Amino acid sequence: MSAMKVSLLALEGLSPSQLLNWKREMQLIVRPVVVISTVDREGNPNAALKTNFMILKALEAVAFHCFPFHDTYENIVDTGEFVVNLPSEEIAEKVMVTAVDFPPKVNEIEKAGLTAIPSEKVKPPRIAECKLHMECKLKWYKDTIIVGEVVAASADEELIQGGYEERQRRLRQMLFLGDWKYGKIGQVSELPHKTYDTYVKHNPFRTGKP
Ligand SMILES: Cc1cc2nc3c(=O)[nH]c(=O)nc-3n(C[C@H](O)[C@H](O)[C@H](O)COP(=O)(O)O)c2cc1C
Repeated sequence: MSAMKVSLLALEGLSPSQLLNWKREMQLIVRPVVVISTVDREGNPNAALKTNFMILKALEAVAFHCFPFHDTYENIVDTGEFVVNLPSEEIAEKVMVTAVDFPPKVNEIEKAGLTAIPSEKVKPPRIAECKLHMECKLKWYKDTIIVGEVVAASADEELIQGGYEERQRRLRQMLFLGDWKYGKIGQVSELPHKTYDTYVKHNPFRTGKP
């Protein structure tokens, strides 16, 4: 028997801020922490922490949510470029400084005590202390969504050698849980993946044909 389903949106009598808090409270899906670096038209660097980030195609295209009133959004629309930096747990405290709403033209990389290094193909810098970087050109944007094409990517040497899980553990990625918390990769299990042939072998009467 499946569990009883409770509607999350049948809400009445809440103020806009109570509604926002409720939605955040019920938004349980884990997301990665990334830092987006940009420059403004004059070349002043900017960095901001984002969590609603996704890969569209491995090392080819990415997407993330950004409020249009953020410096990050304005810089990307103005210059057409950004860098996705993947921070590790070791620099969590510094990385959180990039989430502070500083006024425009403030260099959050400096404020956070992080180090800007030149990128290979775009003007926004990479953050040296992050272990993985994707340099992007703006491909498309609408409302709060930004899509980028990856034009260069780089990683610390330690992420190149070894098995997938081992390399992923070395990255010590921060996974945003909501409620001002983050988690780390814990127990790892194999996905029970199946090809069509193995599925049919184990379910001989379900060939998928009508
Ligand atoms: C945990 C956490 C997650 C955040 N996730 C996002 C996000 O996904 N999208 C977004 O636009 N802002 C997000 N923010 C807010 C930005 O980090 C923050 O407003 C930042 O100062 C924007 O900087 P900017 O104006 O330089 O772009 C998040 C902040 C925190 C603390």
